Amino acid sequence: LLLRRPSLDEYVLLMPRGATIAYPQDITALLMMMDVHPGDTVLETGSGSGAMSLFLSRAVGPKGRVLSYEIREDHHNLAKKNYRHWRSAWEIGHTDEWPDNVQFILKDISTAAADLKSVTLDAVVLDMLNPQCALPVVHSSLKQGGVCAVYLANITQVIDLLDRIRSCKLPFLCERIIEVTHRSWSVLPAKLKHNKSSQMVETQENIEETPQNEYEEIHIQDEAVLKESEYNESLSDAAETNHSVPYIARPSHWQEAHSAFLTKLRKFQPLLS
Ligand SMILES: C[S@@+](CC[C@H](N)C(=O)[O-])C[C@H]1O[C@@H](n2cnc3c(N)ncnc32)[C@H](O)[C@@H]1O
Repeated sequence: LLLRRPSLDEYVLLMPRGATIAYPQDITALLMMMDVHPGDTVLETGSGSGAMSLFLSRAVGPKGRVLSYEIREDHHNLAKKNYRHWRSAWEIGHTDEWPDNVQFILKDISTAAADLKSVTLDAVVLDMLNPQCALPVVHSSLKQGGVCAVYLANITQVIDLLDRIRSCKLPFLCERIIEVTHRSWSVLPAKLKHNKSSQMVETQENIEETPQNEYEEIHIQDEAVLKESEYNESLSDAAETNHSVPYIARPSHWQEAHSAFLTKLRKFQPLLS
């Protein structure tokens, strides 16, 4: 039995949710897009369940600051609670404190222009239904050359966003639109079919998926069970490649589907027009 602290990506996937979270693999790409550094000031909208806020908090560190706007009180409260729980659990077993650097603000971002007047933002990240409403408010506080990263589920929303930038002449250049895909692989020692031990249990992957290739291939725990013909093929491959046992290696049947389009907008305000 191994009892361990969840990593931050595990925690955000398991914590209570009000709004859908931004997935850790996308958050990591967004942090890279924004080039967030320790000490930076970053604005995010909306707080949602607080997943992005936690990753931003870690990225900007104790000398940085995150301003997290949320219009819905229930989401605002949940984001604060998830953040508080992570911070207090962090204290167990760590000598250093998790920074208290996120300011959760219950407010519609489109009404926040006055609050942001005296703030210089190193980066902005928008994960909300109509990010185009936030752009006119945040752009003057974002430093020249700073990045506004936008998380959108549908490509039609990306088009709406770019159209608003063009029609309102907002000072942003769209540098990139990406999807993050992780392709999982199964690499397992092979075992001959009908030769399985009684303690072996079928994995979820095998129960839910019909094998796609001509051989019947079953995954049990950490082994792939093969028919005699394929097992013999794998045995000769193993002999040729000097492996101690035959292995099966191929992309997993189960792959994660689309999550979001990540759009990178660079602030570019020409000094002379
Ligand atoms: C998809 S969730 C954000 C999830 C969050 N990034 C996370 O990782 O947990 C979108 C949030 O934006 C909030 N929102 C929508 N429009 C807003 C606005 N104009 N101002 C502030 N928050 C807004 C919604 O209430 C919702 O909680």
